[in-house]
Amino acid sequence: MYTAKISAVGCYSPARVLSNADLEKMVETNHNWIVERTGIVERRIAAPGEATSDLAFEAAREALKLRGIDATELDAILVCTVTPDMFFPATACLVQDRLGARGAWGFDIVAACSGFVYGLTTAAHLVMAGTHRKVMVIGADTMSRIIDYTDRATCILFGDGAGAMLVERGEAGEGFIGFKNEIDGSGGDYLKMPAGGSRMPATHETVDQRLHYVKQDGQQVFKYAVRKMYELCRDAIEENGLSAADVALMVPHQANRRIITAAAERLGLPCDRVIINIDRFGNTTAATIPLATRDALAAGKLKKGDIVLFAAVGAGFTAGVNLWRWAF
Ligand code: UT7
Repeated sequence: MYTAKISAVGCYSPARVLSNADLEKMVETNHNWIVERTGIVERRIAAPGEATSDLAFEAAREALKLRGIDATELDAILVCTVTPDMFFPATACLVQDRLGARGAWGFDIVAACSGFVYGLTTAAHLVMAGTHRKVMVIGADTMSRIIDYTDRATCILFGDGAGAMLVERGEAGEGFIGFKNEIDGSGGDYLKMPAGGSRMPATHETVDQRLHYVKQDGQQVFKYAVRKMYELCRDAIEENGLSAADVALMVPHQANRRIITAAAERLGLPCDRVIINIDRFGNTTAATIPLATRDALAAGKLKKGDIVLFAAVGAGFTAGVNLWRWAF
């Protein structure tokens, strides 16, 4: 087995800001409620005509530029998204073409908020097996396209964005240490977009009934997220012979500030070792972890050798944790 490491992080956020004050004009809500219950102050919204592959392309392009390599060096492109440009072709195909990544194959990963962790797990194993040298993992979602802006329980939560990480072969002692991934499909009804698939194809009625939007039982998702994020992190740390004191930084999925702080507290991680940037971006689904990692890097919170914990829980239910040693 080879080692696999993350060698570059690129991100893209659309320019338009949707603030809590803007939402106050759209639904019966208020800034204080949103900040207290979620930690969100503003989120970014894609421009009309801007689709997930556009966001994904920009994030991947930045990662390639930071690493100083050409797209032709990529062996695979994995796009984690629940808001593809269309059912098919896969968004990975659209991004491969735009990047000019002629040697790459790839596919989309549909795991909602856990998508990026699943993507990193998959990419790391392709590299560790020795069959791939460079794999681009992109988390990109244009949630504003499937959010009902008349539903105050969901529309305040989500934003649009993309982040990309290049996974490549590392040196001994560098890179990924542990992985834990789970699904629990019994929770599928708590967070979903009911219509538009083969179960309930698009009709006038499904559109009239607003079934092409995100439906969520927020409290059920909240309870599961806190418990599962804590349990998976605890198990990943223990199974790799580590303790919370060894974790330099936790980069959790950004769904709700209260989910993050509750999980971190149970793990015994002080808040200065947990990255929270939900105030500026809301929940960008598969993009939160690279966006938060980029902010951690910019704030000088990561140095070579640090042990980092990525953790996510999302619709499905899906959940995943990556534990790894920072390499650059
Ligand atoms: O990435 C995975 C995806 N999602 C998540 O992880 C989300 C998990 N869930 C949550 O983050 C939280 O459950 C929410 C933020 C969605 C909701 O917070 P909550 O503390 O669970 O609120 P609630 O649903 O229990 O609602 C409390 C009250 C209700 O009023 P009543 O019945 O007590 O009078 C709601 O109608 O707050 C009301 N409410 C609002 N008030 C102002 C719900 N949404 C809003 C709103 N503004 N936007």
